[in-house]
Amino acid sequence: MKAIIPAAGLGTRFLPSTKCTPKEMLPVLDKPVIQYVVEEALEPAEVDGAIIVTSPGKPELLSYFQPDRSLETLLRERGKAAYADAVADAGGMPVDFRYQYEPKGLGHAIRSAADACADESFLVLLGDYVVPARDICTKMLEVSRAHGGASVIAVAPCSPEDVSRYGVISGDRVGSICGAETAGDEEPGAVWRVSGLVEKPAPEEAPSNLYIVGRYLLSPLVMQLLKDQKPGKGGEIQLTDAMARSLDCEVMYAVVIDPLSGYDTGTPSGWMATNALMAAADPRFSDAFWDAIEERGGLKRA
Ligand code: G1P
Repeated sequence: MKAIIPAAGLGTRFLPSTKCTPKEMLPVLDKPVIQYVVEEALEPAEVDGAIIVTSPGKPELLSYFQPDRSLETLLRERGKAAYADAVADAGGMPVDFRYQYEPKGLGHAIRSAADACADESFLVLLGDYVVPARDICTKMLEVSRAHGGASVIAVAPCSPEDVSRYGVISGDRVGSICGAETAGDEEPGAVWRVSGLVEKPAPEEAPSNLYIVGRYLLSPLVMQLLKDQKPGKGGEIQLTDAMARSLDCEVMYAVVIDPLSGYDTGTPSGWMATNALMAAADPRFSDAFWDAIEERGGLKRA
């Protein structure tokens, strides 16, 4: 099974930093954001490769996932084995690339990788969300196995005024993943059968407040439907619309996750908070991080 990671956007919100550096290459602690997403994608045993869909203007992404033997050798000669290992890790992952030549939306980006998925189900991981525990795809695969290989998406509750930022589902709670049997309908572990999907609805039109968080396990039918998917919301080819069409022929499930299991890296302030929260929690960085903050009297909201 392949995992598709769309990474073709312009990174407008991060300009001017993204003028020469792709948004996906901005660091969280000591690694670029994209590496967290690739590592999460490769976590389930079923996944044998990640496909990054990028635009021709971002050669840095391709270079990053190439081996760099001379840098590794140099670092080893200088006794910097840990850095050499980190360089080897980045260049040794099963990552392949496809191009999205025009910015026509998420559905269009995903269908640019159709040839890589053969006729199999595939994962989609959106890159603005870092999941350190890397456990969401495993949960979706568990639900899919329990339902004959059906499509499964991860959802989480949001406030009614936020629904217009996301894809939103309608459906019914039908069960739980193992170990979450008593969870409430919108609590982590609840499993829903999806009856409809709508991209970025107005609050008064939203069928629920369960939004798609950006982790999908989709059947080959969804890829097939994407091929003739017409533009939808914002004039873009929407993945949500092809998923909604698939409901005419197939069942789809949603598993509720804790929205705090991931960290937002899609906006400058989200990215900054993610770096701070992860630094504060990482034993490699936390002492120096807190020392630097406390030296200036701690952090207080102005
Ligand atoms: C995309 C999807 C949307 C989903 C969201 C999650 O929207 O189209 O359904 O809820 O990602 O972040 P975008 O954020 O690309 O506008």
